[in-house]
Amino acid sequence: MAAGHGTRMHSRLPKVLHPVCGRPMVEWVVEAARRAGATRVVCVTRPGEGVAGRLPEGIEVAEQVEGEGTGAAVLAARGHLDPGATVLVLSGDVPLISARLLGELADRHEREGAAATLLTTAELDPAGYGRIVRAADGTVERIVETKRTAGVLPEELALREINLGTYAFAADELLSALDAVAETAGERYLTGVLPVLRERGRRILAERTTDALSGMGVNTRIGLMEVERHARRGIIEVHALNGVTFTSPDTVEVDAGVAIGPDTTIGPGVVLRGATRIGRDCEVGPHATLVSAVLEDEARVVHSHLVECEVGRGASVGPFAYLRPDAHLEDGAKVGTFVEVKNSVLGAGAKVPHLSYVGDADIGPGANVAAGNVTANYDGRAKHRTVIGAGARTGVNTSLVAPVRVGEKAYTGAGSVIASDVPDGALGISRPEQRNVEGYAERVEERPRG
Ligand code: UD1
Ligand code: CA
Repeated sequence: MAAGHGTRMHSRLPKVLHPVCGRPMVEWVVEAARRAGATRVVCVTRPGEGVAGRLPEGIEVAEQVEGEGTGAAVLAARGHLDPGATVLVLSGDVPLISARLLGELADRHEREGAAATLLTTAELDPAGYGRIVRAADGTVERIVETKRTAGVLPEELALREINLGTYAFAADELLSALDAVAETAGERYLTGVLPVLRERGRRILAERTTDALSGMGVNTRIGLMEVERHARRGIIEVHALNGVTFTSPDTVEVDAGVAIGPDTTIGPGVVLRGATRIGRDCEVGPHATLVSAVLEDEARVVHSHLVECEVGRGASVGPFAYLRPDAHLEDGAKVGTFVEVKNSVLGAGAKVPHLSYVGDADIGPGANVAAGNVTANYDGRAKHRTVIGAGARTGVNTSLVAPVRVGEKAYTGAGSVIASDVPDGALGISRPEQRNVEGYAERVEERPRG
């Protein structure tokens, strides 16, 4: 497999590392190869390109240190190829190549004892691609490159069947033919092996597919958008077939690798990223972003942003909540409107319904945190924890100056600054006593103006 160079993406990121639905292009290709039964996967990269360090586990890396062109890239992998094996050559910038097509390609190649079998299609705009020239018996004679059209015959330019750059070869024959390929304009073309193999009396087959999406290559960010659109739709369709309802699939993004249980409904504007896992019978959206978040069955998330957190069975989040890393809601807990939670546990059935900040807190089961509570978790040097016991009820606008503990079934008074522990069952209240100034308005009125 050859990795891309990235010049036309106008990016500091190598082309094959650009993500498609959250997963680098090259990983899609690796995954397809593995699902098609490849026992070894070798990735050809350029030294210093930064791809080698970002490959999935178990991939062999071959550095292309000398020579230019697709043939030179394959030769760089020479030491990794078992001479007696069938080798599939794939491109790192063709991310939607399907395991099914690769399987069909390899099967046909081995069944018919060919030296080379190419994946071709007539369903794409052929401009710039290598065109397939077939012999009278239907086998492949050669490929005419059309990136530069000078010197290409009109009847060759009229050919619609193109080389997708995906091949099966007998490894030993491929390598020995490549050694015999001469350079064209400083490049050794992989496609140059075809005439060599024919000359040696070997058969070259073309497996023509109508599944053009599978062969779509990415050269620019427009191509990337196109490929992403298809990949996204494919991911959503797999979830839909597994029992997930999408009320507005065209407005939803789901990364490869996200899990969603049956009878869950995903509303409009939902973005599911990374290692997000959603149980069954959940309702997500409208408008929620989940980044590696876990929702247990029957959870509900509306208009909220969740990052690396866990929401228990039947728990409810939003509208307009922000759950940050290590927020953990146990079963039936609720985090409501304009509430931010990080590194905290809300016990079963605990509620923080409105306008609060909960950081580094342990809130017991059944506790109720009233509107506008804030944990003062940071003293300028270190973070401290706040503990609110089971069944406790804080009053509105309570400031909890950590480290501090509000006991089980304890209360705090509205507007209190709680800087020391409140025993179980007690009321903690700390606010200046109210003083009423009688007749105040009248005195203001009587005061001379100016
Ligand atoms: C190649 C084919 C062409 C086919 C097209 C399909 C040849 C000569 N031509 O053309 O028939 O229609 O693919 O997309 O093979 N690479 C390296 N090292 C190199 C050169 C290339 O790793 O020195 C990698 C590229 O990063 C890419 C792949 O090989 O992943 C294909 O190379 P590219 O230059 O894109 O070939 P095309 O001109 O597109
Ligand atoms: Ca290309």
